[in-house]
Amino acid sequence: LRHVMSPLDLSVEELDKIMDLAADMEAKPEKYAHAAERLKLAALFYEPSTRTRLSFETAMLNLGGQVIGFHSATSSSATKGESVADTVRVAAQFADIVAMRHPKEGAPMVAASVSPVPVINAGDGGHQHPTQTLADLMTIRTCKGRLSDMTVGICGDLKFGRTVHSLISALVRYPNVKFVLISPEELQLPSYVKEDVLKANNIDYVEKIRLEEALPDLDILYMTRVQKERFFNEDDYVRMKDFYVLNREKLQAAKKDMYVLHPLPRVNEIAVDVDDDPRAAYFNQVYWGMYMRMALMYTLLELEVKEC
Ligand code: CP
Repeated sequence: LRHVMSPLDLSVEELDKIMDLAADMEAKPEKYAHAAERLKLAALFYEPSTRTRLSFETAMLNLGGQVIGFHSATSSSATKGESVADTVRVAAQFADIVAMRHPKEGAPMVAASVSPVPVINAGDGGHQHPTQTLADLMTIRTCKGRLSDMTVGICGDLKFGRTVHSLISALVRYPNVKFVLISPEELQLPSYVKEDVLKANNIDYVEKIRLEEALPDLDILYMTRVQKERFFNEDDYVRMKDFYVLNREKLQAAKKDMYVLHPLPRVNEIAVDVDDDPRAAYFNQVYWGMYMRMALMYTLLELEVKEC
Protein backbone atom coordinates (compact mmCIF):
# COMPACT_ATOMS: atom_id res chain seq x y z
CA LEU A 1 0.00 0.00 0.00
CA ARG A 2 1.60 3.27 -1.16
CA HIS A 3 0.61 6.85 -0.49
CA VAL A 4 1.99 9.98 -2.20
CA MET A 5 2.37 12.96 0.12
CA SER A 6 5.30 14.66 -1.64
CA PRO A 7 7.46 13.97 -4.72
CA LEU A 8 9.97 12.32 -2.38
CA ASP A 9 7.56 9.39 -2.09
CA LEU A 10 8.55 8.53 -5.66
CA SER A 11 12.10 7.70 -6.71
CA VAL A 12 13.63 9.40 -9.75
CA GLU A 13 13.31 6.09 -11.62
CA GLU A 14 9.60 5.99 -10.74
CA LEU A 15 9.10 9.61 -11.79
CA ASP A 16 10.72 8.86 -15.13
CA LYS A 17 8.60 5.71 -15.54
CA ILE A 18 5.41 7.62 -14.74
CA MET A 19 6.32 10.21 -17.38
CA ASP A 20 6.95 7.46 -19.95
CA LEU A 21 3.62 5.86 -19.01
CA ALA A 22 1.77 9.20 -19.30
CA ALA A 23 3.26 9.68 -22.78
CA ASP A 24 2.05 6.19 -23.77
CA MET A 25 -1.41 6.94 -22.34
CA GLU A 26 -1.57 10.11 -24.41
CA ALA A 27 -0.48 8.27 -27.56
CA LYS A 28 -2.70 5.18 -27.04
CA PRO A 29 -5.68 6.14 -24.84
CA GLU A 30 -7.75 3.12 -25.93
CA LYS A 31 -5.11 0.74 -24.53
CA TYR A 32 -5.85 2.02 -21.00
CA ALA A 33 -9.59 2.68 -21.34
CA HIS A 34 -10.63 -0.33 -19.24
CA ALA A 35 -7.65 -0.60 -16.89
CA ALA A 36 -9.55 0.61 -13.79
CA GLU A 37 -12.95 -0.92 -14.57
CA ARG A 38 -14.99 -1.42 -11.36
CA LEU A 39 -12.55 0.76 -9.39
CA LYS A 40 -13.46 4.09 -7.80
CA LEU A 41 -11.62 7.28 -6.96
CA ALA A 42 -12.80 9.26 -3.92
CA ALA A 43 -12.02 12.92 -4.62
CA LEU A 44 -12.14 14.56 -1.17
CA PHE A 45 -11.70 18.27 -1.80
CA TYR A 46 -11.98 20.43 1.34
CA GLU A 47 -10.60 23.44 -0.56
CA PRO A 48 -11.49 24.93 -3.98
CA SER A 49 -9.91 23.48 -7.10
CA THR A 50 -10.50 23.58 -10.82
CA ARG A 51 -7.55 21.81 -12.46
CA THR A 52 -6.59 19.23 -9.89
CA ARG A 53 -10.09 17.97 -9.25
CA LEU A 54 -11.21 17.97 -12.88
CA SER A 55 -8.02 16.25 -14.01
CA PHE A 56 -8.11 13.60 -11.27
CA GLU A 57 -11.73 12.85 -12.08
CA THR A 58 -11.10 12.78 -15.83
CA ALA A 59 -8.05 10.60 -15.29
CA MET A 60 -10.11 7.97 -13.42
CA LEU A 61 -12.91 8.11 -16.02
CA ASN A 62 -10.33 7.70 -18.81
CA LEU A 63 -9.03 4.59 -17.06
CA GLY A 64 -12.56 3.15 -17.13
CA GLY A 65 -13.20 3.73 -13.43
CA GLN A 66 -15.69 5.83 -11.52
CA VAL A 67 -15.55 8.85 -9.21
CA ILE A 68 -17.21 9.71 -5.91
CA GLY A 69 -16.44 12.51 -3.49
CA PHE A 70 -17.19 16.04 -2.39
CA HIS A 71 -16.08 19.40 -3.71
CA SER A 72 -16.07 21.52 -0.57
CA ALA A 73 -15.86 20.98 3.17
CA THR A 74 -19.33 22.49 3.50
CA SER A 75 -20.90 19.70 1.47
CA SER A 76 -19.37 17.00 3.70
CA SER A 77 -19.82 16.05 7.35
CA ALA A 78 -16.63 18.00 8.12
CA THR A 79 -19.02 20.89 8.82
CA LYS A 80 -20.53 18.77 11.61
CA GLY A 81 -17.08 18.25 13.10
CA GLU A 82 -16.08 14.93 11.54
CA SER A 83 -12.31 14.38 11.53
CA VAL A 84 -10.21 13.77 8.43
CA ALA A 85 -9.33 10.32 9.79
CA ASP A 86 -12.98 9.28 10.16
CA THR A 87 -13.88 10.75 6.76
CA VAL A 88 -11.19 8.77 4.98
CA ARG A 89 -12.18 5.57 6.81
CA VAL A 90 -15.68 6.06 5.40
CA ALA A 91 -14.48 6.96 1.87
CA ALA A 92 -12.19 3.93 1.78
CA GLN A 93 -15.21 1.64 2.30
CA PHE A 94 -16.51 2.84 -1.06
CA ALA A 95 -13.37 3.69 -3.02
CA ASP A 96 -10.09 2.08 -4.08
CA ILE A 97 -7.98 5.23 -4.04
CA VAL A 98 -8.31 8.69 -2.48
CA ALA A 99 -7.18 12.12 -3.70
CA MET A 100 -7.38 14.70 -0.91
CA ARG A 101 -7.03 18.47 -0.97
CA HIS A 102 -7.12 20.23 2.37
CA PRO A 103 -6.29 23.74 3.65
CA LYS A 104 -4.36 22.28 6.62
CA GLU A 105 -0.79 21.17 6.10
CA GLY A 106 -0.43 17.47 6.87
CA ALA A 107 -4.15 16.58 6.62
CA PRO A 108 -3.57 14.04 3.79
CA MET A 109 -0.81 12.50 5.94
CA VAL A 110 -3.34 11.96 8.74
CA ALA A 111 -5.63 10.35 6.16
CA ALA A 112 -2.82 8.12 4.90
CA SER A 113 -2.02 6.96 8.45
CA VAL A 114 -5.44 5.30 8.77
CA SER A 115 -6.40 4.56 5.16
CA PRO A 116 -6.50 0.99 3.85
CA VAL A 117 -6.32 2.36 0.26
CA PRO A 118 -3.71 4.66 -1.37
CA VAL A 119 -4.04 8.35 -0.52
CA ILE A 120 -2.67 11.03 -2.87
CA ASN A 121 -2.05 14.53 -1.57
CA ALA A 122 -3.86 16.85 -3.99
CA GLY A 123 -2.49 19.94 -2.20
CA ASP A 124 -2.25 20.53 1.56
CA GLY A 125 -2.22 24.16 2.68
CA GLY A 126 1.04 25.90 1.80
CA HIS A 127 2.99 22.66 2.08
CA GLN A 128 3.14 20.25 -0.89
CA HIS A 129 1.35 19.55 -4.18
CA PRO A 130 3.06 16.48 -5.65
CA THR A 131 0.73 15.84 -8.58
CA GLN A 132 1.22 19.42 -9.79
CA THR A 133 4.92 18.59 -9.79
CA LEU A 134 4.25 15.56 -11.97
CA ALA A 135 2.54 17.88 -14.47
CA ASP A 136 5.40 20.39 -14.19
CA LEU A 137 8.13 17.80 -14.74
CA MET A 138 6.39 16.34 -17.77
CA THR A 139 5.90 19.81 -19.24
CA ILE A 140 9.55 20.72 -18.75
CA ARG A 141 10.70 17.38 -20.16
CA THR A 142 8.44 17.80 -23.19
CA CYS A 143 9.47 21.42 -23.84
CA LYS A 144 13.20 21.14 -23.14
CA GLY A 145 13.79 17.44 -23.84
CA ARG A 146 15.48 17.03 -20.45
CA LEU A 147 15.16 17.64 -16.72
CA SER A 148 18.86 18.19 -16.07
CA ASP A 149 21.39 20.94 -16.84
CA MET A 150 19.23 24.00 -16.56
CA THR A 151 18.67 27.20 -14.62
CA VAL A 152 15.17 27.39 -13.20
CA GLY A 153 13.79 30.72 -11.99
CA ILE A 154 10.95 30.50 -9.49
CA CYS A 155 9.13 33.76 -8.98
CA GLY A 156 6.46 35.06 -6.61
CA ASP A 157 5.09 33.59 -3.41
CA LEU A 158 7.76 31.05 -2.50
CA LYS A 159 6.67 31.01 1.13
CA PHE A 160 3.11 29.74 0.75
CA GLY A 161 3.37 28.32 -2.79
CA ARG A 162 3.04 24.57 -2.25
CA THR A 163 3.71 23.82 -5.92
CA VAL A 164 7.12 25.47 -5.57
CA HIS A 165 8.05 23.38 -2.51
CA SER A 166 7.19 20.17 -4.33
CA LEU A 167 8.84 21.18 -7.61
CA ILE A 168 12.13 22.08 -5.94
CA SER A 169 12.14 18.79 -3.98
CA ALA A 170 11.79 16.91 -7.27
CA LEU A 171 14.17 18.93 -9.47
CA VAL A 172 17.10 18.82 -7.03
CA ARG A 173 17.33 15.10 -7.77
CA TYR A 174 18.20 15.74 -11.44
CA PRO A 175 21.83 16.63 -12.27
CA ASN A 176 23.02 20.22 -12.59
CA VAL A 177 19.76 22.07 -11.98
CA LYS A 178 20.38 25.56 -10.57
CA PHE A 179 17.74 27.81 -9.05
CA VAL A 180 17.15 31.54 -9.07
CA LEU A 181 14.61 32.29 -6.32
CA ILE A 182 12.80 35.55 -7.06
CA SER A 183 10.53 36.90 -4.33
CA PRO A 184 10.00 39.80 -1.94
CA GLU A 185 11.86 39.21 1.32
CA GLU A 186 8.63 38.40 3.16
CA LEU A 187 7.77 35.62 0.69
CA GLN A 188 11.05 33.72 0.58
CA LEU A 189 11.17 29.91 0.74
CA PRO A 190 10.46 28.39 4.17
CA SER A 191 13.45 26.78 5.89
CA TYR A 192 12.13 23.24 5.36
CA VAL A 193 12.85 23.81 1.66
CA LYS A 194 15.77 26.25 1.76
CA GLU A 195 17.74 24.51 4.50
CA ASP A 196 16.50 20.93 4.31
CA VAL A 197 16.35 20.57 0.53
CA LEU A 198 18.59 23.16 -1.16
CA LYS A 199 21.37 23.61 1.39
CA ALA A 200 21.29 20.00 2.58
CA ASN A 201 21.87 18.80 -0.99
CA ASN A 202 24.48 21.48 -1.85
CA ILE A 203 22.28 22.85 -4.62
CA ASP A 204 23.43 25.97 -6.44
CA TYR A 205 20.90 28.77 -5.84
CA VAL A 206 20.70 32.55 -5.61
CA GLU A 207 17.94 34.78 -4.24
CA LYS A 208 16.82 37.92 -6.05
CA ILE A 209 14.09 40.46 -5.64
CA ARG A 210 13.90 41.83 -9.21
CA LEU A 211 12.58 39.54 -11.95
CA GLU A 212 14.17 41.68 -14.69
CA GLU A 213 17.62 41.02 -13.26
CA ALA A 214 17.14 37.25 -13.35
CA LEU A 215 15.25 36.80 -16.60
CA PRO A 216 18.07 36.68 -19.23
CA ASP A 217 19.82 33.70 -17.57
CA LEU A 218 16.82 31.40 -17.19
CA ASP A 219 15.90 28.21 -19.08
CA ILE A 220 12.60 27.89 -17.22
CA LEU A 221 10.62 30.63 -15.48
CA TYR A 222 8.05 29.26 -13.00
CA MET A 223 5.67 32.07 -12.05
CA THR A 224 3.34 31.75 -9.06
CA ARG A 225 0.33 33.53 -7.64
CA VAL A 226 0.55 35.32 -4.31
CA GLN A 227 -1.55 32.97 -2.17
CA LYS A 228 -4.21 35.30 -0.81
CA GLU A 229 -5.92 32.54 1.17
CA ARG A 230 -2.78 31.88 3.28
CA PHE A 231 -2.22 35.49 4.45
CA PHE A 232 -3.17 36.50 7.99
CA ASN A 233 -3.28 40.17 7.07
CA GLU A 234 -5.17 41.53 4.04
CA ASP A 235 -2.93 44.64 3.88
CA ASP A 236 0.17 42.47 3.41
CA TYR A 237 -1.54 40.64 0.57
CA VAL A 238 -2.59 43.86 -1.14
CA ARG A 239 0.95 45.23 -0.84
CA MET A 240 2.52 42.20 -2.50
CA LYS A 241 -0.10 40.88 -4.90
CA ASP A 242 1.15 42.80 -7.96
CA PHE A 243 4.84 42.64 -7.10
CA TYR A 244 5.57 40.62 -10.25
CA VAL A 245 3.81 40.96 -13.58
CA LEU A 246 5.31 39.17 -16.57
CA ASN A 247 4.18 40.69 -19.86
CA ARG A 248 5.15 40.43 -23.50
CA GLU A 249 7.50 43.39 -23.27
CA LYS A 250 9.47 41.97 -20.31
CA LEU A 251 9.62 38.57 -21.98
CA GLN A 252 11.76 40.09 -24.75
CA ALA A 253 14.74 39.94 -22.38
CA ALA A 254 14.39 36.15 -21.99
CA LYS A 255 16.09 33.42 -24.02
CA LYS A 256 14.25 32.33 -27.15
CA ASP A 257 13.94 28.83 -25.69
CA MET A 258 13.03 29.81 -22.13
CA TYR A 259 9.62 28.39 -21.23
CA VAL A 260 7.15 30.07 -18.89
CA LEU A 261 5.29 27.81 -16.48
CA HIS A 262 2.63 28.62 -13.89
CA PRO A 263 0.58 26.08 -11.92
CA LEU A 264 -2.51 28.30 -12.38
CA PRO A 265 -4.88 29.83 -11.42
CA ARG A 266 -3.24 33.14 -12.26
CA VAL A 267 -4.41 36.55 -11.13
CA ASN A 268 -2.22 39.35 -12.57
CA GLU A 269 1.22 37.79 -12.54
CA ILE A 270 1.18 36.78 -16.21
CA ALA A 271 -0.48 39.25 -18.57
CA VAL A 272 -2.73 37.68 -21.16
CA ASP A 273 -0.52 39.11 -23.92
CA VAL A 274 2.01 36.38 -23.03
CA ASP A 275 -0.48 33.60 -23.81
CA ASP A 276 0.22 33.61 -27.56
CA ASP A 277 3.97 33.44 -27.12
CA PRO A 278 5.25 29.97 -28.10
CA ARG A 279 7.19 29.91 -24.80
CA ALA A 280 4.00 30.06 -22.72
CA ALA A 281 3.66 26.50 -21.38
CA TYR A 282 1.13 26.92 -18.56
CA PHE A 283 -1.78 25.33 -20.38
CA ASN A 284 0.54 22.47 -21.37
CA GLN A 285 0.86 21.80 -17.62
CA VAL A 286 -2.91 21.43 -17.38
CA TYR A 287 -2.84 19.09 -20.39
CA TRP A 288 -0.14 16.84 -18.97
CA GLY A 289 -1.62 17.00 -15.47
CA MET A 290 -4.45 14.70 -16.48
CA TYR A 291 -2.16 12.09 -18.10
CA MET A 292 0.27 12.22 -15.17
CA ARG A 293 -2.57 11.65 -12.68
CA MET A 294 -3.76 8.74 -14.85
CA ALA A 295 -0.25 7.29 -14.80
CA LEU A 296 0.13 7.84 -11.05
CA MET A 297 -3.16 6.15 -10.16
CA TYR A 298 -2.36 3.30 -12.58
CA THR A 299 0.96 2.82 -10.79
CA LEU A 300 -0.38 3.02 -7.21
CA LEU A 301 -3.26 0.67 -8.02
CA GLU A 302 -0.81 -1.73 -9.71
CA LEU A 303 -3.04 -1.94 -12.77
CA GLU A 304 -2.13 -3.88 -15.87
CA VAL A 305 -3.22 -3.89 -19.50
CA LYS A 306 -2.52 -6.39 -22.23
CA GLU A 307 -0.64 -5.14 -25.28
CA CYS A 308 -3.02 -5.27 -28.28
N1 CP B 1 -2.75 24.13 -9.95
C1 CP B 1 -3.82 23.83 -9.17
O1 CP B 1 -3.70 23.09 -8.18
O2 CP B 1 -4.99 24.38 -9.57
P1 CP B 1 -6.40 24.16 -8.86
O3 CP B 1 -6.31 24.84 -7.51
O4 CP B 1 -7.41 24.78 -9.76
O5 CP B 1 -6.60 22.68 -8.68
